[in-house]
Amino acid sequence: ERGGYPHFMLKEIMEQPDVWSDALLGRVQNQRVVWREMGLPASVAETVRRIRIVAAGTAYHAGLVGKMLIERLARIPVEVEVASEFRYSTPIFEPGTLVMAISQSGETADTLASVRLAHELGVPTYAVVNQVGSTLARESDYVVYTHAGPEIAVASTKAYTTQLLVLTLLALGLADLKGRGRPDLVQHLLSLPHIGQTLLGQLESVRQMAESLSLKRDVFYIGRGLDYALAMEGQLKIKEIAYIHAEAYAAGELKHGTLALIEDGTPVVAIVTERDVAEKTISNILEVKARGAEAWGILDRQITGDIPVDHQIVIDTPDPLLAPAIAALPLQLLAYWTAVFRGEDVDKPRNLAKSVTVE
Ligand code: M6R
Repeated sequence: ERGGYPHFMLKEIMEQPDVWSDALLGRVQNQRVVWREMGLPASVAETVRRIRIVAAGTAYHAGLVGKMLIERLARIPVEVEVASEFRYSTPIFEPGTLVMAISQSGETADTLASVRLAHELGVPTYAVVNQVGSTLARESDYVVYTHAGPEIAVASTKAYTTQLLVLTLLALGLADLKGRGRPDLVQHLLSLPHIGQTLLGQLESVRQMAESLSLKRDVFYIGRGLDYALAMEGQLKIKEIAYIHAEAYAAGELKHGTLALIEDGTPVVAIVTERDVAEKTISNILEVKARGAEAWGILDRQITGDIPVDHQIVIDTPDPLLAPAIAALPLQLLAYWTAVFRGEDVDKPRNLAKSVTVE
């Protein structure tokens, strides 16, 4: 059942290129997103002026990527909130608001409560969900499936990256509806499964980083823009299965306090795929290096120049907007191998359940 892999998590990491193909299947044609496959009628989508994304954990991190993609491509303002906060807040819904819930299981109590709150207030709801027929899928007005297949490991991997792909399709589709289509990006999306497959065959060096990380007490993840959203997902994976204290920082925030924690040998994972702000992040890497950090980079090949990292993983992405799913792969494997080196129960981390159906 684990397909010859020692853990479900590794199986689920390795099958991502295939499930990405499933998530894209039938949803792209002639360099355009096939809008009717997105589960949201065009007549509704055209009235959307504002999106409120609600989700928990990894799905929340996918929502942060979704916000940036929708805002950059479709120019629709998006807010992202953790469902456990949203459900007890007093949201102000302007006309034209759509509440979008993201969930692998479709059974997360807080996410469901958020959708019910939106219903009570007469706001349309749209679910990005993996589990077909789940409560969230049934209770939301509109639904699009991520088609990741069953995810058994508690740590979410393939559910996350398929959420990223579906959110990218959605952003591109919404952009198209507004006359801002990006056929180039739609075409490039189709190359992601192949790029992911190639990368997964080249990540042996992640093991060395993991061996070193497995002996550390703390680790920091930094990035800007999409890379910051990815950093948040990277740190959650490490906490969740390797039980190492991890924090994600917007690279530019380091100086406002956290830099004080960097000492000799503190590992800092820097994600640098946002080409427009790469120079800025590189200078942040120099700053942590100057304080003795061990810097590890996940770097887009197009970003050249002298990047002062101790280890690096180079990734190929056709466009920075499509980098997140690719860059997630080494982050997932880093967490996986670190937990394995520490001898932890990778698929069933302590204190956690696969789906959080009670508060
Ligand atoms: O099923 P959901 O996507 O709603 O679950 C949300 C979170 O509980 C989940 O993503 C959790 O953070 C994962 N264990 C992270 O790997």
